[in-house]
Amino acid sequence: MNMVDSFEKLPVRIYPDLKEGSKFAAKEIAALIQAKKAAGATCVLGLATGSTPRSMYAELVRMHKEEGLSFKNVVTFNLDEYYPIENDALQSYNRFMHVHLFDHIDIDPANIHIPNGEIPKERIKAHCLEYEKMIEEAGGIDLQILGIGNNGHIGFNEPGDDLPVRTHRVRLMESTRRDNAMLFDNDPSRVPAEALSMGIGTILRARRIVLVATGEKKAECIRQATGGRLMTRVPASMLQVHADVELILDREAASLI
Ligand code: F6R
Repeated sequence: MNMVDSFEKLPVRIYPDLKEGSKFAAKEIAALIQAKKAAGATCVLGLATGSTPRSMYAELVRMHKEEGLSFKNVVTFNLDEYYPIENDALQSYNRFMHVHLFDHIDIDPANIHIPNGEIPKERIKAHCLEYEKMIEEAGGIDLQILGIGNNGHIGFNEPGDDLPVRTHRVRLMESTRRDNAMLFDNDPSRVPAEALSMGIGTILRARRIVLVATGEKKAECIRQATGGRLMTRVPASMLQVHADVELILDREAASLI
C-alpha cells in the first residue's frame, strides 16, 4: 500500500433512526417514479430484501394508498434470491417482495423481475445471462437500493479474493447463513447454501445507488466501505468508484466514520 492517508468519502446522510431514513429513501423513489412518469418514461428500480428495507417498502405502500403514488410505469429487478428455493417458500425473497410491496401496489406483474430460485441447475447460467439482458433491455437501472451485510456484502456478493462482475450463482458464507437464520428456525444449516445474485458490475451500472444501513453491527463494515480503499474483502467498498451513490445511515451505523 503506497497511500499514507485517503480523504475520499462517500456522501452520507445520518438520520436519528431507520424509520426517518426509510422515509427519505421512499420519498426519493417516489419523486423519481413521478418525474419519469411526467416524462412518459418507465422507472427502473433495483430492489433489495432483508430487514433494513422493510420500513421503506411500508412507506411506499402508504404513499400508494394515501397519496395515490402509482407504480404503473415502474419496472423492478431484485438483487438476489436463495438457491435453491421455491418461489412461494416462506423465506424466499420472491415472497418477501410480494408480502412487503408488490401485493399492495399497482405494479404490472410482468414488470417484476427476481432471480428464480426454482431454475434447474443446468439452466442457471442461461438464467443469469437472461437477467442481465433483461436489465439492459429495460434501459438499465435508474436507482438501485442496497442494504449491506455484516460482512460488507452487497447483494450476495460475498467477501473474497475476487468479486463476480455479473449475475451469478454464489456460495453463501457461513456468517451470512448465520445472520439470515431467523426465518429458518434459527438453524443456519437450513439456510440454502447458495444464492443467485447480481454482480458488482451489475450494481455499479445503476445510474444512482442508495445504500441504507442501520445498527451498530453495521458500523465496522460501513467504516471499511467508506475509508477510501477498494477491498474485495469488503464488497461494498467498490461503491466508492461510483459517481452517484449515497449512504443513508442511522447514528449507530455511522458511529465509526
Ligand atoms: C438482500 C441483500 C443483502 C442484504 C444484506 C443486509 O436482497 O442483497 O445484501 O441487503 O444482507 O440484510 P439486512 O437488511 O437484513 O441486515
